[in-house]
Amino acid sequence: MRLSILLLCILALIGCKQNKLLQSPDGEIHATIQLTNGKLSYQVMKDTELVIQSSALGFNLKEHGALVDGFTLIDRERTEMNESWTAVWGPEKKNVNRYNQAKLELKHEESGIYMNVVFRAFNDGVAFRYEFPKQNGLEEFTITDELSEFAIVGNPKSWWIMADFDSYEKLYYETPVSEAQWVNTPITMRTNSGLHVSLHEAALTNYSGMTLKLKDGGKINTFVSELVPWADGSKVKTKAGMHTPWRTITISDSAAQLVESNMIVNLNEPCKIEDTSWIEPMKYMGIWWGMHIGTETWVEGDKHGATTENTMRYIDFAADNNIQGLVVEGWNAGWDKWGAKDAFDHVTPAADYDLEKVAAYAKEKGVELIMHHETGGDAVGYEALMDSAYSLCQHLDIKALKTGYAGGIYPRGEYHHGQYMVEHYQKVVETAAQYGIMINAHEPIKPTGKRRTWPNMMTREGVRGMEWNAWSDGNPPSHTVTIPFTRMLGGPVDYTPGTFDLMLKNFADERVSWNTDDISKTRTHTTLAKQLALFVILYSPMQMASDVVNNYINHPAFAFIANADIDFDETRVLNGEVGQYITTARRTGNNWLIGSATNEKARDINIKLDFLEQNKAYEATIYADKEGSDWQNNPEQYTISKQTVKHGDKLSMKLAAGGGQAISIIMK
Ligand code: NOJ
Ligand code: CA
Repeated sequence: MRLSILLLCILALIGCKQNKLLQSPDGEIHATIQLTNGKLSYQVMKDTELVIQSSALGFNLKEHGALVDGFTLIDRERTEMNESWTAVWGPEKKNVNRYNQAKLELKHEESGIYMNVVFRAFNDGVAFRYEFPKQNGLEEFTITDELSEFAIVGNPKSWWIMADFDSYEKLYYETPVSEAQWVNTPITMRTNSGLHVSLHEAALTNYSGMTLKLKDGGKINTFVSELVPWADGSKVKTKAGMHTPWRTITISDSAAQLVESNMIVNLNEPCKIEDTSWIEPMKYMGIWWGMHIGTETWVEGDKHGATTENTMRYIDFAADNNIQGLVVEGWNAGWDKWGAKDAFDHVTPAADYDLEKVAAYAKEKGVELIMHHETGGDAVGYEALMDSAYSLCQHLDIKALKTGYAGGIYPRGEYHHGQYMVEHYQKVVETAAQYGIMINAHEPIKPTGKRRTWPNMMTREGVRGMEWNAWSDGNPPSHTVTIPFTRMLGGPVDYTPGTFDLMLKNFADERVSWNTDDISKTRTHTTLAKQLALFVILYSPMQMASDVVNNYINHPAFAFIANADIDFDETRVLNGEVGQYITTARRTGNNWLIGSATNEKARDINIKLDFLEQNKAYEATIYADKEGSDWQNNPEQYTISKQTVKHGDKLSMKLAAGGGQAISIIMK
C-alpha cells in the first residue's frame, strides 16, 4: 500500500515536470525552460558551465493577483531565425540575426489568463520575454511587480552602477556580485572561468525600465526585476495584446567579445522608417563646454555663449575642419527659469541670437545646426510644444536635435526611467522621424537597441559623461574603460570626449562656478592622446569634439578629429578587460581608426594588423602619449608619428597611466 502511494507520488511528480531545452545555433548555449508543478522557471548554460541556475518567472497583477504558480502548458512552438540586415549607420553595418526560439503558451488556471513566454538562444546569449495575447476577459491590467529572476552561480566579480530611477550618471563599482544589492542595467560579470555575462533589456518601448535587486536582502545572489514605478506605485499600465521588453543575458568567452555582441540590437524590430537617406552620422562641436566650465552662461547676459557672433565663429571653424554639426545651447528663452514648469520656450530665440541668420550662415557653410531642447524634465510642457518646435526645425532645415531632461520630471512624481517617460522618449523619436529629425537625448532612458527600429535615435547620454569633469570630482581613468563593457552594451553613447585643455588652465581666470561644487580642482583625468582614443572607443554616430573652439584652433592634435571618419562599416574589439583597458578598431571603407586606452595603470599593448587587406600599403598616423608624461604629469604632451604598415604587421603601443593611443590607418 505504502509503496504504491510512493509510486503514485513519483509518477505525479514526473508528470508535472516539463522541461523544454533550447540550444543556440552553434550548440554552445543551452536554456532549459521548466514547468514544475505549475511553476515556471529557466536556467542557462554555456557549454558545461551553469551561468543562470533555476530562476523563477512570473508577475503580480493588481486586478488578478499573483501569476506565479498554477500554470498549465497549452501549446508550444519552435522557430528558427537566420537573417541578415544592414544598419543605416555603424558601428557594424552588416548584422546577422540568428537564433532558435521556443514559445510556451500557458494558461494560469486560477485567473484564467493566457500568457506566453518566449525564449531565444543566440550564439552570444539568451533572451526571454512575456506576452499577454488578446483574449476574452482580459483587457486593461496593471502590473504591480514583474518577478523575473536571474540566479547567479557563485559570486562572480561584477561591474555596476547603483539603481536610480532618475539617473545613470554614476561611477561604476567593481565588487563581488553579492555586493551589487540594487543596480541599474547593464550589469556585467566575470565568472571564475573567465566567461563574461551581462544582464540588460532590449526593445524597451511601452513598459517601465527594469532595475535588478538581490533577493532576500542579498542573502543569495539572485537578482529579481524591480520595475521603476509610476507615481501611484503601479509598475506597468497596459492591456492584453502586449509583450514585455526582452530580458537579456549576454554571454561571451572574453570581455572583448562581449562588446562585439549584437544580440540586443538584433532583438529589436526591423526599421520602421521607409526613407532613411536623411539620417547621417556626424561629428559635431558645441557652444557647450564653456557653460560647464563656467566661462560662459546659458542665460542671457555678459557671458552668454549663444550669441550670433560666437556661433558664426564656431561655424567657420567647423566648416574649415571637417566637423559637420554644431549644437548651440542657451539659444532660446527660458534658461533663467530652468526647473520651473513650462520654463523653456523652444521657438523663441534669445535677444542676442539671430536664429534665422545663424541657420542661413550654417547652410551656406555646409554645417548642420543642431537644435537644442532642454526641457528641465518638463515632459508635459515639451509635448505641448513639440509640433511647433519641430516645425521650426523643418522651416530652418535643421535635421538634428539634442534633447535634455536635467531636472525632476513633470508630471511630478514620475521618474525618468518609468513607463510615463519611456513612452515620452518614444514619442519624441517617432514624432522627430516624421519631421526628418535625428535625436541625441541627454538624461535619456537606457539604450535597448531601438536604433534598429528607429535609426533616427542616433545617440544618447545616460552615462556619467565628460561634463562631470568640469564641475565635480570628475571621472577617474578607469571609468572610460569600464563604459564599453557596461553602459555601451546597450548602444551608442554621447560621452562627448575631446577635451584638450585637460587641466582647465587656459581660461582659469574667467571661470565662475554655476552650481554648488568647488570648481577650483576640476580637470579631465586622462592624457590628451586618450581623449583621441576615446573618440574611437566610445562610439557615437553623433560624436562630439567637446572642448571650446579656442582650445582647438591651430592645435596639431585636432587633425586626428578633423580627419576621422565616424560612420563605421565594421568594428573589432582587439583586446580588453573590464575597467582596465580596451583596444577598438573601426573601419570606414578601406580605412581604419584604432583607439586604445588604459585605466590608472601604464601598459604596453601589442596588436596585430591582421584585419588590413593583404597586398595593400597603408599609412598609419599615430597619436601617442609622450614618454615621461601621464594623466597626472604633463597629460597634454603627446607625439604624432607616421609609418607605413601592411596586413599582419605588429604594432606595439605604450600607453601611459591614464593614457591612450589613437591611430588612423589610410589605404594608400
Ligand atoms: C545636461 C546635459 O548632459 C548637458 O549636455 C547640457 O549641457 C545640460 N544638461 C544643459 O542642457
Ligand atoms: Ca547629463
